[in-house]
Amino acid sequence: MLSDKIITWNEAVDPRAGIENARTLFVETFGTEPTGVWSAPGRVNIIGEHVDYNGGPCLPIALPHRAYIAVSMRNDRRIRLVSPQTREQIDELDLDQIGPRGSEYEVTTWAAYLAGVAWAFERAGYGPLQGFDAALWSCVPRGGGLSSSAALECAMAVALDDLGDFGIAGTVQAPHDEGRKILVDLCRRAENEIAGANTGGLDQTASLRCRAGHALALDCRDMSVAHIPFDLASEDLALLVIDTRAAHSLADGQYGQRRADSEEAARILGVNLLVEAEDVEAATRVLSEVGADSQRLVQRTRHVISEIARTRAFIDVLTQGPLEGERLYVAGALMNDSHDSLRDDYEVSCEELDVAVAAARAAGAYGARMTGGGFGGSAIALVRLNEAEKVARTVARAYADRGWESPHFLTAIAGAPAGRDI
Ligand code: GLA
Repeated sequence: MLSDKIITWNEAVDPRAGIENARTLFVETFGTEPTGVWSAPGRVNIIGEHVDYNGGPCLPIALPHRAYIAVSMRNDRRIRLVSPQTREQIDELDLDQIGPRGSEYEVTTWAAYLAGVAWAFERAGYGPLQGFDAALWSCVPRGGGLSSSAALECAMAVALDDLGDFGIAGTVQAPHDEGRKILVDLCRRAENEIAGANTGGLDQTASLRCRAGHALALDCRDMSVAHIPFDLASEDLALLVIDTRAAHSLADGQYGQRRADSEEAARILGVNLLVEAEDVEAATRVLSEVGADSQRLVQRTRHVISEIARTRAFIDVLTQGPLEGERLYVAGALMNDSHDSLRDDYEVSCEELDVAVAAARAAGAYGARMTGGGFGGSAIALVRLNEAEKVARTVARAYADRGWESPHFLTAIAGAPAGRDI
């Protein structure tokens, strides 16, 4: 019976085990103890999708799933990197030979996410740095739309901050938020310029600036944040994450195309960012007259404006108190509408995500939607705590009925930000 099949839960490893895994890999590879181990979380965005680069609000939480990086500085400018997947062949680079995509020194492997951060530190005047050896071990599902790459960047950033004695980020217990904003910019530069993915800053902000037990209300106009208590388990609820394991890559053209559409619509509407265009009807009237691209630009703009309104409404609901009674249904409906808009207007969903969302809703989720950039990756469902397993099984069965490989599942609990002292 399909329903009796074991389903895979990808829960986070205990931080002590994560630290030990990275340390052991370092010792086995480089033959000495690392100076320290730093880590940074992946994230799920509860709502507010594809609005960060439009100046809108987002609402991520940091996951308990983290990337751990064991590091020691060297006396030269070499960088040596290893992960469990690359232990047969260590990546070696030189701090003087890291460059943007398309340049002589472009970095095309996963090393771009780590070396790119060192590059960004030096470009911003934090340096010159020494080279370093680093061993990475991560339990953030790779390619799952849960910001596994931002977790690498942010772990690297807090490590370089500590090792270079720059004093930018503060600690996990006493974070220095203004400094963390600077690190967000450096990590984002690494991702945009060195890794070649033109993403908007949501992921790095979540990884560096979230607080345990809280959702992060992020206003991307000025990157200001507010921390809202978010402890679903105490409300007998859970946020089920469904990692579809369908192919997903932000560096491919689709993400950049959506960004270009948004910029084009903003230009036609005469605003800097779509967040300034608050009225869907007025925007539709103007965009309808632009000829061949009008239908597409109307759809993109309708998603952005409506998603911004939904996210603000969700933040209001969450600020009012526990998700119970009417508030719970309102929150669920906002999540559902968000997905439908991403699917129909922004066109960044895919069959695997739509099937997961539909099955979760049918199994009793209060709301379900894709999360992150889309085109694969993960969906989330707001469910009763004691029904998470049932919803997961229903989704797995819907996949099996289609002959698809089962998704992986995890429950999202708001974890701690990047740092050494978790
Ligand atoms: C990816 C990007 C983010 C954001 C989301 C969509 O995660 O990295 O900057 O644009 O997609 O909300």
